[in-house]
Amino acid sequence: MSLNFGNIHFSQQPEKVVFLSGSLFRSLGLSSKKSIQLRIGTQTISAAVKPIERSGKHIYLSSGVRNNIPVPRQGPIYIHSSREGEIELGPVVGILSDGPHNSSNPFGARASYIRQLLREGNKKMFVYAFAPRDINWQRGSVQGYILGANGGFVRRTVPLPDVVYNRLPSRKTDFSPFTNQLRDRFGKRNIKFFNWAFFNKSDIYSLLDGDVQAGKYLPETYNNPSPEQIKDMMERHNFVYYKPSAGSLGLGIYRLTYLPKKGYYARYHGNEGNTLLKFPNFNSLMRMLQAKHGSRLRNYVIQQGIRLIEIDGCPIDFRFHMHKNSKNRWAVVGIGAKKAGRGSVTTHIKNGGSLLTPEHALSRAFGSKSREVLERAKQAAITMSEAIENHHPHLLGELGFDIGIDDQERIWMFEANSKPGRSIFNHPALRGEGRASVEHIFDHSMYLSGFHRGNDS
Ligand SMILES: Nc1ncnc2c1ncn2[C@@H]1O[C@H](COP(=O)(O)OP(=O)(O)OP(=O)(O)O)[C@@H](O)[C@H]1O
Ligand SMILES: [Mg+2]
Repeated sequence: MSLNFGNIHFSQQPEKVVFLSGSLFRSLGLSSKKSIQLRIGTQTISAAVKPIERSGKHIYLSSGVRNNIPVPRQGPIYIHSSREGEIELGPVVGILSDGPHNSSNPFGARASYIRQLLREGNKKMFVYAFAPRDINWQRGSVQGYILGANGGFVRRTVPLPDVVYNRLPSRKTDFSPFTNQLRDRFGKRNIKFFNWAFFNKSDIYSLLDGDVQAGKYLPETYNNPSPEQIKDMMERHNFVYYKPSAGSLGLGIYRLTYLPKKGYYARYHGNEGNTLLKFPNFNSLMRMLQAKHGSRLRNYVIQQGIRLIEIDGCPIDFRFHMHKNSKNRWAVVGIGAKKAGRGSVTTHIKNGGSLLTPEHALSRAFGSKSREVLERAKQAAITMSEAIENHHPHLLGELGFDIGIDDQERIWMFEANSKPGRSIFNHPALRGEGRASVEHIFDHSMYLSGFHRGNDS
């Protein structure tokens, strides 16, 4: 077993031949070999192998080789040998996303993150982006996208990858029969696939509820509550959140409040902006919700409202961006604090919210204790990541938690996202964390692909 980092060059010989610089030739244990199996992603060919005199770690792939296996590009790459006589170039990472057909920007609003992934990932391994329609299963290849010299997307035929990073943008595509078949086919070829799919709030809540360690961070929550349950929750907790299990962006979320002797209140963000409605009794509140959402209320959850710490009278919560690292362990890679806009029931930026560093937010709330609170919250986020992973049947490599802290310093989890957004990394102080997040995607892909260092390198 040997892992090397070197450079690929293209050469023009018509024969199927791979030239290796002397040190690479020896390090890969090929001294007695005349031919090798060359593997890229899920494709393998056999080729002649010859050492050449050159210092450093270099590999030259002839036209004859490249006509038989699609090589995404020249330049830096890991060269791995897990079996005698076989060398593997990669890993090959495919970023699965989607966007408008036949457009110069095939990934729509995801383009800038995908560009960043391609730019960073290709400093070390083969990384391309693709949509479900770009796969050719018969050939074992993909019409993927890499970055051209001017930063635009360029089409290339590339091998099926070792690892797929799923960033399919919509629940509709993610849960379509076509995508399920795709996951199946990746699985059969032993192509690692993370993250599996979007989460549903109710699935994650019931999963954490049953976990001794992680359950304590979950506010009291019920899936598809009856009106009686909603009323009971409102009376016991004063205010509750009523939210769609598969929702995002704060859409369809209500903050429901019961003030004894005064009445029932519903606060939400509607077409007319932030809205507050008052109801004389519980039934009239329920009638409004039923009139607006009908049977879709079946996919709602009710959750104890947490009184969040505040700055200038505006509640604050936190996004914890988690990754698995090269050792397959969870790490907190970025934390953003989100301050709600005035009158908003959520902390979403487009709803008037603003972004702060966690140190800034916590020192305003807890002064000298803020560092300790932050450490406890990080530990909680790791505990919850492990719990979700343990109860989840598929690979997870990245998570985004919405976490609240109350003035008793208690930590609460509102939501876990399997395709977390990246808006926290727009904060000037969090750009480094944004880069670290991208690096973790590739460190973990390295782990998943089995590109491991042997004892002899
Ligand atoms: N139980 C609660 N107590 C207090 N605040 C809450 C509660 N649940 C949600 N919130 C607030 O509402 C915000 C949005 O909630 P949540 O993340 O569950 O919904 P979402 O629409 O899925 O959001 P996203 O855009 O992050 O997917 C939270 O970040 C938090 O500020
Ligand atoms: Mg959220």
